[in-house]
Amino acid sequence: MRTQVGIIGAGPAGLMLSHLLHLQGIESVIIESRSREEIEGTIRAGVLEQGTVDLMNATGIGERMMREGHFHRGIELRFNRKGHRINMHELTGGKNVTVYAQHEVIKDLIAARLQARGEILFNVGDVSLHDLDSSAPKIRFRKDKNGELQEIHCDFIAGCDGFHGPCRPAIPKTVRTEYQKIYPFGWLGILTEAPPSAPELVYANHERGFALLSTRSPEIQRLYIQVDPADDIANWSDDRIWTELHARLATEDDWKLIEGPIIQKGIIAMRSFVCDPMQYGRLFLAGDAAHIVPPTGAKGLNLAVADVQILARALDSFYTSGKTELLERYSATCLRRVWKAERFSWYMTSMLHRHHDHTPFEHRIQLAELDYVTSSQAASTSLAENYVGLPME
Ligand code: FAD
Ligand code: DHB
Repeated sequence: MRTQVGIIGAGPAGLMLSHLLHLQGIESVIIESRSREEIEGTIRAGVLEQGTVDLMNATGIGERMMREGHFHRGIELRFNRKGHRINMHELTGGKNVTVYAQHEVIKDLIAARLQARGEILFNVGDVSLHDLDSSAPKIRFRKDKNGELQEIHCDFIAGCDGFHGPCRPAIPKTVRTEYQKIYPFGWLGILTEAPPSAPELVYANHERGFALLSTRSPEIQRLYIQVDPADDIANWSDDRIWTELHARLATEDDWKLIEGPIIQKGIIAMRSFVCDPMQYGRLFLAGDAAHIVPPTGAKGLNLAVADVQILARALDSFYTSGKTELLERYSATCLRRVWKAERFSWYMTSMLHRHHDHTPFEHRIQLAELDYVTSSQAASTSLAENYVGLPME
């Protein structure tokens, strides 16, 4: 098999890249180790930056998002039992965020790719990368997990295979530097059948730990609480989860958290991670394959989309004029934005979680930071412009 760009991974990065390349007249093939049902059913991110929303609309895949997504002009930071609204719309000159689940973005992208006769091979196995430092790199894989070995001959390979995929390790260790921070926190996330308890997202700092109130639809809500990352979900009965949510989100006025049946629950660990460079020979990493952020800043999916926009532009420049300059600068261009998102995600995480090793002094500093960011126009503007998404370059 031959294609111009071989894409490994059908997450937001791989699917969006294939979609953008198609609009530029560049061929691609996506290979994905999971089934279509599995990737369309995995519950992950929920918040889309203004730039992600604009890109989806500009490339013809925004229709359902505009119908079913929830447009939020602000967020609430809650601490000391009081809510403080950050009016992002006003502070950023009219930008918003949209709450629309990642798996809905995935469904829209897969539908668009298949409608345009794009090739996505699901359920592949034994993926390996070859000849990355030549002008004819190859991807080897088994169709249907255990089928015959096959090869895709490409001009370029896009490593969009998430944090645990084979692409990043294909860059020789001597060439890459990895930066990492593991947090002593995890998030227990639930989906519940209940109406929204608040009109916008609520990020709460509480002495029992962080809590987050988000939404999915008028009937389904998404909530998270900070837990020990090594904790077992079996230790968390529905009653225990609701007790924590009520305690951590409580206010001194008559605001009420609305409960409903819990239809899904799980625990995720949190890390910050960056691989530098994000490219090697004809291999280009994008999204979680190259970097991870803790979810508190709602940046992961958006960073993946920003990377592939930069990569699609660089590939377009190569195929239309033979220029390699943008491709050569790919990693440096992405990493400038990535490090700012790393900083913001680390900042939100540090400010909002309960640190069990904090002294009373450090705890008071954390509360002073929250007081400052919600009362100073300069500080809340900084938070708002990062939350809605920094410019591409
Ligand atoms: P992935 O989505 O991980 O996709 C990679 C794909 O590659 C997968 O489908 C995988 O099956 C496939 N793959 C792996 N190995 C192979 C292989 N060997 N061969 C072929 N295919 C392979 N981000 C936000 O922006 N906003 C949020 O609000 C937010 N909230 C989050 C909440 C949670 C609970 C979690 C877990 C994450 C959240 N994120 C959020 C992060 C976001 O989900 C990720 O950053 C995003 O999925 C990255 O997209 P990606 O395409 O790079 O990687
Ligand atoms: C959601 C996830 C996040 O990481 C976040 O910061 C806000 C909302 C969500 O899943 O809705």
